[in-house]
Amino acid sequence: MKKYWLCLFALVLLGCEVKKPEIPLFIYDMQDAYMFDFEARIQNQTNEAILLTTIDGQNSQIIQNEDIDRWINKKVPLLIINPVDRLSVYSIIEKAKKNGTKIIFFNREPLAQDMALYDSVFYVGADAAESARLQAQIIMDLFGNDTKLNAADKNGDGIIQAVILKGEQGHQDAEARTKVVVETLIESGYAIEVLDISIANFDRATAKAAMDNLVALHGQKIEVVISNNDAMALGAIESLIEKGFFIDSDNNGEIDRLTETWIPVIGIDGLDIAMEKIESGFLYGTVFNDSQNMAEAIVELAQLLIRGEDISGLSFSISDGKYIWINYKKITNQ
Ligand code: BGC
Repeated sequence: MKKYWLCLFALVLLGCEVKKPEIPLFIYDMQDAYMFDFEARIQNQTNEAILLTTIDGQNSQIIQNEDIDRWINKKVPLLIINPVDRLSVYSIIEKAKKNGTKIIFFNREPLAQDMALYDSVFYVGADAAESARLQAQIIMDLFGNDTKLNAADKNGDGIIQAVILKGEQGHQDAEARTKVVVETLIESGYAIEVLDISIANFDRATAKAAMDNLVALHGQKIEVVISNNDAMALGAIESLIEKGFFIDSDNNGEIDRLTETWIPVIGIDGLDIAMEKIESGFLYGTVFNDSQNMAEAIVELAQLLIRGEDISGLSFSISDGKYIWINYKKITNQ
């Protein structure tokens, strides 16, 4: 008799066990250094309540669309998407809407008109213009917070000679960061001459090659390298080391800015490896693109959406009923 009750108890327990909902997490390209780190933060954030399966779009919207179709057909309640091409998510939203599948987009922001197509579509990201304004502040600090400029103005002409490494064309961050960093400096009374803008797709190796080229074209004229992200800043530093713009004379692996040759390179993202380069004096500064907070927002929102609960209970504030904006932070070791 005792055995019977024990079995019944076990059965009830098993029967009542709630299966974790499996939710797909689409990443546009796991080769992207920032997204690789971001994905890990999202996964680390999930708890017993949710199982996330990561799907790599391999930088192909065609591949990502096929995967999204498969998951919509599986009738999952929610898709978490870092789209390959943020400008062509229209059909994804339409399909999800037809099937009642909710969507959280992140990092690559769909057009406002596409976001407006469906009530159950959300975006978690950061305001790219803000990162550019903070990057401009780092540049102003570098030039002594004085529009007459300090000794960082190598040729003493009162003008900042800069080269810009731009991320992927059409990406909201690449476009806004490139434009707003220059605008902010000008609005703050600084004279800036952009010697060149090279597109290096947010990628380290592409930026290394681009920087080789920029050095060949502009050489010692360059006073600052402004990069749309850290991966490209690190690629630029590799090139600049090879070309003798950084000389670690005592070979201690660090650049002493008072006694050794260096050139300011400024990134955005705050990758761990970039933080190490700030410590060792190779990277002048960066702006933290807070993927940790974004990961927390995504997972918290996902849980509410899966349970069909009211999102007003979220611990992050929501603008226009759809957007969660996470602030950037300025980082230097000055
Ligand atoms: C980051 C880049 C990254 C891109 C991917 C941006 O916010 O700054 O490093 O390559 O997102 O979409």
